[in-house]
Amino acid sequence: MNYKLIDLGVFGDDRGKLISLEKNNNCPFDIKRCFYIFDTKNGIARGCHANKNSEFLLIAINGSCKVKIDDGKKTEIVNLNSPHTALYLNRMVWKEMYDFSYNAILMVLASTLYDEKEYIRDYEMFLEEVNK
Ligand code: TYD
Repeated sequence: MNYKLIDLGVFGDDRGKLISLEKNNNCPFDIKRCFYIFDTKNGIARGCHANKNSEFLLIAINGSCKVKIDDGKKTEIVNLNSPHTALYLNRMVWKEMYDFSYNAILMVLASTLYDEKEYIRDYEMFLEEVNK
């Protein structure tokens, strides 16, 4: 499966809400890294690459953004607008995050440590690699 939406489950009580991310519970992989994208300027698209080895979980913990997902055969657009829902992305998926709302914070969990060598940043090269 190249991508799926995961309902994270929420612990809520009179004080408010809490969401926990845990391997084999609501996160399908061992979490090695976390980063978040914020203060995104108007009209900017981020990502625009594929990763040979990394799986990701994307969560709009504040605000919203859209994610274009391309597996080399078909393209889907997902609207991320809730801290309750994560978008899981498998390896070798081209992704573009755009239409960030004001104050959007997109948190990303990754199955790998950062390694620039596993990035494919050229779309034609991605198509070549994924259709091999
Ligand atoms: P970049 O890959 O351009 O972000 P995007 O996913 O939006 O395309 O990353 C921006 C900078 O941050 C770049 O210099 C690499 C660095 N970076 C890390 O050092 N560690 C990380 O985990 C990530 C995602 C990026």
